[in-house]
Amino acid sequence: MSHPTTSEPGLRQSTHRFRCIACGDLSDAASLDFRCSRCADLLEIIYPAWTSASPAAEDLKSSWRQRRLSNSAIDLSGVWRFRELLPALQNSDQAITLREGNTPLYELPQCARSTGVPRLYAKHQGMNPTSSFKDTGMTVAASFAREAGYRWVACASTGNTSASMAAYAARGGLRSLVLVPEGKISWSKLSQALDYGALTCQLRTDFDGCLRLLQQLVLRAPVYQLNSINPFRLEGQKTLALELLEQLDWQPPDHILVPGGNLGNISAIGKALLEMRGLGLIARLPKLSVIQAEGANALVRTMREAGGKRLVSVQAETRATAIRIGNPASWKKAVHVLEATGGACEQVSEIEIAQAKAEIGAEGIGCEPASAVTLAGLKKLLKQGFVKPEESVVLVLTGNLLKDPDFTMEFHRGDLFRGTAHESESAALKPLRRPPMVLDATLEAVIQALEQADKSGSTHSNG
Ligand code: F0G
Repeated sequence: MSHPTTSEPGLRQSTHRFRCIACGDLSDAASLDFRCSRCADLLEIIYPAWTSASPAAEDLKSSWRQRRLSNSAIDLSGVWRFRELLPALQNSDQAITLREGNTPLYELPQCARSTGVPRLYAKHQGMNPTSSFKDTGMTVAASFAREAGYRWVACASTGNTSASMAAYAARGGLRSLVLVPEGKISWSKLSQALDYGALTCQLRTDFDGCLRLLQQLVLRAPVYQLNSINPFRLEGQKTLALELLEQLDWQPPDHILVPGGNLGNISAIGKALLEMRGLGLIARLPKLSVIQAEGANALVRTMREAGGKRLVSVQAETRATAIRIGNPASWKKAVHVLEATGGACEQVSEIEIAQAKAEIGAEGIGCEPASAVTLAGLKKLLKQGFVKPEESVVLVLTGNLLKDPDFTMEFHRGDLFRGTAHESESAALKPLRRPPMVLDATLEAVIQALEQADKSGSTHSNG
């Protein structure tokens, strides 16, 4: 499809360079493992031209809005629509796109009432083509992989990255290699990778073990690394923040809460906010906070026990398998954005995650367990006085409800915490459970069930 793109005089994409986040070394090309050739730390993408000749903020805003009327593939993408703030492909028609981004910003009226925060929103990245936020980064990084001439792309994953990578590889005519921890990812995500034709390897290790192996593999085999260590991924994921601010008419919310796993997403969103302020697109920064599961709380411990100076790794364990990560690769980038935006780093329990997930589900939108840490985290940050009820809050929901149907079914059937240390505590969640009923196929049985449910009331009612 080659519709003409909207013409916008004076706007163009800038040349990008790579900069080491630790020693500041600059380069025009990245090494195979996307690590600094001098000190082996992570790279970030910078746009040197922005300091001298920044694109005009108002021109950018009106051009991005105008592109929503265009039928060209890259304008229809909620990522490439913001291409002035992204690395430039040699030929932008060569972007591998599935119309990613363009995700809704929902109000959460019931959660707003129960938390006492009237201006509460959810940016639902689970509404992307493969049902997670990963697609926004994948369209950029996979496109650069193809442009660089690679045949194979690869990732280590807790499930969503692999589903997304497999889809974009398939669309772009590339082959994909998936390394996932055996038995520790949801079959829903695994089935996506299979359907999109990935070579899928379930390794007898955890996510951290898969990522370690991948980092060695890319130095030995001609495969292109598509984890969020790859800075092109983070450039694409920046567009979440651009799109969010556009949806809020460029009025920054007071708080943005993001789940933290490998810590690429928080880093990308933070980078976008800092760049937006630098370019005059927003006047002030929201506080960007990261929420982790208690059982996978490496960043929380890094901040509390080491003041953000060295990584405190953990042996990760949580039913929110997407964020079951103990050795997050982008921890330094995350510390930087927490400090730059004044955000908090908090952890929530398995019970709190399950409760928050059910509450978001009861809003009619739903999300996967890892996303629900944001609502659970909000409740804690409110209690601590870090978030004030009169402030506006955006929760980033990273994955779709259907990404982990086992968790939802076990929750509603009352099996989620059976035989675990949380079993007795989980009794408090009973009012949120809606187990399926098996009835005789008679009118009477259904009417009786209806009447009973009506009498017992509903925590879902608007009250
Ligand atoms: N939420 C979901 C649904 C995820 O899949 C992930 C990460 C995160 C949050 C955390 O984001 O790693 O950028 O801090 N999933 C990766 C994967 C690790 O392989 O799918 P992060």
